[in-house]
Amino acid sequence: MSNDNKNTYNFGMIGLGTMGRNLLFNMADHGFSVTGHDKSEKMLQLLEEEGKSHQLKGFAKIEDFIDSLQSPKTIILLVPAGKIVDDVIEEVTPLLSKGDIIIDSGNSYYADTTRRAIALKAKGLHFFGMGISGGEEGARFGPSLMPGGDKEAYAVVKDMLEAVSAKVNGEPCVAYIGPGAAGHFVKMTHNGIEYAIMQLLAETYEILKNGLGYDNGQIQQVFEQWNNGRLKSFLMEITKEVFLFKDVKTGNLLVDEIKDEAKSKGTGKWTSQIAMDVEIPLSTIDAAVAARNLSKFKALRLELENSFGKSAAIDAQADFVKDLEEAFYFAMVSAYAQGMHLLWRASDEFGYELNMAEIAKIWRGGCIIRAEFLQDIYQAYTQNPELQHLYQDEAIQAKLKKGLAGTRNVISKALQAGIAIPSFAASLTYFDTLKTGRMPSNLTQAQRDYFGAHTFERIDSEGVFHVDWSTNKA
Ligand code: 6PG
Repeated sequence: MSNDNKNTYNFGMIGLGTMGRNLLFNMADHGFSVTGHDKSEKMLQLLEEEGKSHQLKGFAKIEDFIDSLQSPKTIILLVPAGKIVDDVIEEVTPLLSKGDIIIDSGNSYYADTTRRAIALKAKGLHFFGMGISGGEEGARFGPSLMPGGDKEAYAVVKDMLEAVSAKVNGEPCVAYIGPGAAGHFVKMTHNGIEYAIMQLLAETYEILKNGLGYDNGQIQQVFEQWNNGRLKSFLMEITKEVFLFKDVKTGNLLVDEIKDEAKSKGTGKWTSQIAMDVEIPLSTIDAAVAARNLSKFKALRLELENSFGKSAAIDAQADFVKDLEEAFYFAMVSAYAQGMHLLWRASDEFGYELNMAEIAKIWRGGCIIRAEFLQDIYQAYTQNPELQHLYQDEAIQAKLKKGLAGTRNVISKALQAGIAIPSFAASLTYFDTLKTGRMPSNLTQAQRDYFGAHTFERIDSEGVFHVDWSTNKA
């Protein structure tokens, strides 16, 4: 390498796939000098070809790449989550000096991020786990960014991250999230909500298609109309477009040619798993994760459909679709509320000190779950930063109350017709459980004490009690 490149560039990227390249171009667009490294010759070539008009450079040799960066050297990783992140860290660490910064921008598991942050801190290096949302388009023109890690090192990257992020009302969709793995935890939760909203859209499609007998054009129109109102969101917008896309191979609408088996990379599952660990129920999200898993049993589903019969048409009254909009709003609120509830708990449990309003604020643009409703969430937590649950917010309560009868109508009619609506149904029972002042859990406690002497607490006196349940029968 010629000495010309030494200590020249502001930021470096390892992993020059589409996401990595796009984020580099975005940084270069905003006046930052950037450099990239990838093991693949092809990716380096693509960087060169596509990045001709930018102030950027690719290096095949890791030493040249690191050498080319100004100090403190800031390296962003956009490589697949898992072992590769550890391998890259191992490779670059000996080439870095105290105070240098590594930012992992993949969908890494939060506990891995905690482990890496501790190990790198011991070497005097700063480590950031940064959630990045918005896909390839977002990376290129403005993602939502969720960086977590050493607060003092954030100053080095703050201006750049604010410049490249999406903007809503001129405000950047990035904020320092918190210490350790806070950024990756928040991104994981974002994805859990993403799974739930996607599933609710799929269930709505199912209700309209199999319950009401709508064709794709009619379904598209419903989504189009909703997207002009309070349900406006990125996912609603792309979903309505899916219903218009023609398959070049068959001339049919492509959506009908796609296998009904959903894949996943694991972030939704992690959200549900961790929520179980910290005892925060995420019924809507859990049902969405389970629905993707159930979709994998195609042969079994066909066999059981044969045994038990298909779902029936819904006995729908004239304003059923209006009620369906209410039901969607209700379940959407529940999905976001559950995600925020998990963050509320994680903030305490893991010491992330999350600013809930700030998180809602940076999700308003750039990310996959951006939606009109995030403004309401932002307002709710701005008014009351200590809010435990979104259902408690008065403005949201008023809207939920107004739509509750319609919501119950849609969900009960779909259930009656045998239409599978796991996330809708889970949302309603979650809500009904949370608004039950006295749950039947007293019976659960009695049973536990009966068979295992696990004790119970009384409503009229302090302490724990045990009785021999086989005696003293009425
Ligand atoms: C985003 C997305 C992104 C990715 C999902 C896909 O915020 O930009 O969430 O991270 O597309 O992880 O997840 P699945 O493959 O599990 O659906």
